[in-house]
Amino acid sequence: MTTELHGLTALVTGGASGIGLATARLLGARGAAVAVLDLDPAGAPAPLHGFTADVADDNSVRSAVQNAADALGGIDILVNNAGIGAAGTVEDNADEQWHRVLDVNVLGIVRTTRAALPHLRRSGAASVVNTCSIAATAGLPQRALYSASKGAVLSLTLAMAADHVREGIRVNCVNPGTVDTPWVGRLLEAAQDPAGERAALNGRQPTGRLVTVEEVASAIAYLASPAAGSTTGTALAVDGGMAGLRLRPEPKP
Ligand code: NAI
Repeated sequence: MTTELHGLTALVTGGASGIGLATARLLGARGAAVAVLDLDPAGAPAPLHGFTADVADDNSVRSAVQNAADALGGIDILVNNAGIGAAGTVEDNADEQWHRVLDVNVLGIVRTTRAALPHLRRSGAASVVNTCSIAATAGLPQRALYSASKGAVLSLTLAMAADHVREGIRVNCVNPGTVDTPWVGRLLEAAQDPAGERAALNGRQPTGRLVTVEEVASAIAYLASPAAGSTTGTALAVDGGMAGLRLRPEPKP
């Protein structure tokens, strides 16, 4: 295990579960001091520093980011990962649900980054990584609202990368395919045929299986690290080949 992040500090939103927790653990294992901002940070035990905040609430974000910066002695790496899902076509979600998902998935990144920027500007190795999604670049059925939110995250990533490159702050995102997290577990539990639904999700990925949280965490840790010093304004797919590959159907045995 490399310790290339030794001496750096990192803040991970939505860091108490799934992709965020795996990322917080990996950044810590690579030497960073790590804080987690979450609605319920209990899932992220020491040595991770937990801070309670709702990324949809500006005051709670501002105070949690300041408290995290105080505890860590600054912020070099910000991982904007907190996000929520939504299912349905454009006919299916009420306006309130549109406002809520965009508020968490898009404005959540705005609020957290805005609060962290003064700290990032003081860093000699500043980096922001947003958790975007394959849904930003591929049309998935029953994901109109979620996809719109992640499309906005992709564009926001590029715009933020342009705005802050001359301040020495890199901004990138990862685009995971379907990842085996508690979130997907909840989706499967709610399905009429969980085993069939899991098989369909596996089959949608050219690799034939779901992405692991560790695989997404590794991609985030790479983009966050000084080793990626010339990489900004990119989206790194961690999707089992879903975005780029076109396979022929498997030959029948
Ligand atoms: P998860 O549900 O396992 O974890 C999400 C974490 O975010 C939880 O700890 C939750 O408490 C926290 N959170 C939710 N709303 C929050 C808020 N308003 N303020 C602060 N914290 C909040 O989810 P998972 O699967 O790890 O997803 C993390 C990110 O990855 C999300 O942005 C999601 O859109 C993205 N993603 C997930 C994929 C998947 O297949 N699981 C695929 C592509 C992207």
